[in-house]
Amino acid sequence: MHSIAILNRKGGSSKTSVTVHLGGTLARLGRRTLLIDVDPQASLTQGILGPQSLRSDPGSTVAAVWGGDPLPERLVTPTGVDGLWIVPGHESADRWNLPIVERADIGGLRDFLREVRGDFDFVLMDCPPNLYRCSSSALVAATHVVTPAQPEDYGSQGIVVVNRAVRQIQDWFGTPEILGYLLVQVDRRLGIHQAYSEAIRETFPGLVFDTTMPVSATFKEAVAARLPVSHFKPKSAAAKMFVELAEEIERRLSGGEIHALAS
Ligand SMILES: Nc1ncnc2c1ncn2[C@@H]1O[C@H](COP(=O)(O)OP(=O)(O)O)[C@@H](O)[C@H]1O
Ligand SMILES: [Mg+2]
Repeated sequence: MHSIAILNRKGGSSKTSVTVHLGGTLARLGRRTLLIDVDPQASLTQGILGPQSLRSDPGSTVAAVWGGDPLPERLVTPTGVDGLWIVPGHESADRWNLPIVERADIGGLRDFLREVRGDFDFVLMDCPPNLYRCSSSALVAATHVVTPAQPEDYGSQGIVVVNRAVRQIQDWFGTPEILGYLLVQVDRRLGIHQAYSEAIRETFPGLVFDTTMPVSATFKEAVAARLPVSHFKPKSAAAKMFVELAEEIERRLSGGEIHALAS
């Protein structure tokens, strides 16, 4: 089982969009995929299950993991898309998501994943735009990290901050590995996007995915229809882009970078 934290400290950097569309695409490719909404804002949950999901009992959401009493059979919820499940998020997790992080404090999500590891091929964890306890817990539970970043100044700053956080967790736990940086919301007509895309590729050789996520209304339309783009418009350029990303991810994972969760 590969567990991937989707993380950037910057808000609006397509973390939730990448989680839902990549998750749907992996499911369509036959991989049993679990999404975990680690962000107390719970946008992923609302996007997939609808606004009524936000009123759910915290005990059936990721808040139960933070509370230390998670029951997998209560938490893992079908999405309506074949092969795709979600552990919903809950706003009550805001109270738990504190900036001060201690090593002993952030193992709960990793322990939960150990219980369900036989059930899934991929786990994608959608993180909040900060590096407090929720994101740190996702890093501890992750075998790999994917950082979506816009090819602009703030986007590339986000990469540096994530790298620092990952190094801290690696020092403590030995994992995760950076799987790659994904350039998102790319507008090829913008000179600044071309310049920053090249600069980021030069600064982090081999780490930036060849596949990039362009600006496209199809991504927004799919979420409005409560579907991943793979199921909303499977033949669209937007859906094909995510198939290419999924294939690139699987190539990287089979290239010897696999760090399975220790049992
Ligand atoms: N490639 C894209 N093309 C068009 N709109 C996008 C794209 N990626 C994200 N968006 C939109 O940008 C906003 C922020 O994206 P989101 O995935 O919620 O970011 P984050 O989770 O990092 O805050 C959302 O309204 C989303 O629909
Ligand atoms: Mg988000």
